[in-house]
Amino acid sequence: MGLANRSLVTIDDLSNAEIEALFSLADKMAVSLEKQFNLCQGKIMASLFFEPSTRTRLSFETAMHRLGGRVISAVNVGETSLAKGESVADMARVVGSYADIIVIRHPWEGAAKVVADYAGVPVINAGDGGHEHPTQTLCDLYTIKKEKKTIRGLRIALWGDLKYGRTVHSLAYALARFGATIHFRAASGLEMPDYVKRKLTTEYKGRLEEYETLDDVVKERPFPLDAIYLTPSSPHQLANIPSVSLQIELAKGVDALYVTRLQQERLNAEAEEKEMKNDYPVVDKKLLKKKEFRETVVLHPLPRVDELAYELDVDPRSMYFKQAELGVPIRMALIALLLGAKEIATPRKEESFTQPKEYALYQRETGVRCTNRQCVSAQKTEKGYIKPQFKIVSCRPLTLRCIYCDHEIFPPCIASSHWHEGRLVSKRYHSADSHMVRKIRPEHLMIFASAKDAEAHGFKPSSYAQPN
Ligand code: NCD
Repeated sequence: MGLANRSLVTIDDLSNAEIEALFSLADKMAVSLEKQFNLCQGKIMASLFFEPSTRTRLSFETAMHRLGGRVISAVNVGETSLAKGESVADMARVVGSYADIIVIRHPWEGAAKVVADYAGVPVINAGDGGHEHPTQTLCDLYTIKKEKKTIRGLRIALWGDLKYGRTVHSLAYALARFGATIHFRAASGLEMPDYVKRKLTTEYKGRLEEYETLDDVVKERPFPLDAIYLTPSSPHQLANIPSVSLQIELAKGVDALYVTRLQQERLNAEAEEKEMKNDYPVVDKKLLKKKEFRETVVLHPLPRVDELAYELDVDPRSMYFKQAELGVPIRMALIALLLGAKEIATPRKEESFTQPKEYALYQRETGVRCTNRQCVSAQKTEKGYIKPQFKIVSCRPLTLRCIYCDHEIFPPCIASSHWHEGRLVSKRYHSADSHMVRKIRPEHLMIFASAKDAEAHGFKPSSYAQPN
């Protein structure tokens, strides 16, 4: 399938082969950026940035200008009708009727998906709250690949705010898909969210060794680790004897260090901010002197604050400015492909672990809603038309993943919609951790946020209604 008319909302919207082909196109375009001006002549890109941005917005706009297209923009919610209470869907429909492609950055998680659902033109997610930032990941992978020739088999450390940093979420998925080992070094309290970790192990079938299961030597070498992700392509031996082989693995050092700043604007309370600031890990000359970092390239999506010392700017291992510069050819290639101005050939079949898993969808209106306050589906202006939808990712325990923001919920009660077959007495609800969760067919499954919800729908407790 070609890329024309598609959207890029999550990094999983592109297969590995498509990402590789996009890189080849970016390589060709980078040779003469100024000679691509006839590719998108007559096309208009809407650049909607409702959160601060320097690199992402300006590199997208530069890319469109280089391709000969034009740009319309809105950079402040306060100056758009969103401030009057307009929904994201209505805005998307309207902007989609003006522009041929939309680039959107928005503070709500899942907002870019809503825009893609309603705009009728290709949409690129330039960052949706703390959720994902897939084009930054393209720049990151492209930079790493240029320096190290491949991603497969590399050891890459993600550093800093792994909880609210959207760049590290998209990047972790991509690294897992390309077969890299990931070392997690989070600032305390800012560890990778559970939903990201679960996706890494269920979707990409790798193994996550968490801090508690690591032995003491492993935990501290060459920096305090909170988890390590091993892909299915990691050496067999490594996957089987964790602590000894992990020590050997860590002694080899890291190939790339991906540093991120504290996402201060997303912290919940002042107290959280104070605590996080004090304990934030810093990358400086002293750290990079360790032998494990001899060959390590240092990346950062930028902007930096205090976590990356300026003294490193002259170090040949520092790649962050190059990474920002490469944003232009990458985004040129992406825009040209989504607008159908360029085509790429990709192989039909890919390795199985690079393909995200398909799950059954839960779409009934039975009271279950996403509990993430930053999710687009939880916003007052959006509730009227967004129907909560979830992927059923596990039955043990029953786990639903919001299709907008990926956050997971664990609802307590279930029932079967098949109760009515003649016997009202069987209109019963059960605990979600009872065996009934596997007995009820997915198409008959009804899920409730509480026993009260189940009762409001006319169900009475069964003998399996109490949690185990
Ligand atoms: C990042 C972002 O906006 O998520 N910046 C970027 O796009 N280059 C990282 C950040 O703001 O910390």
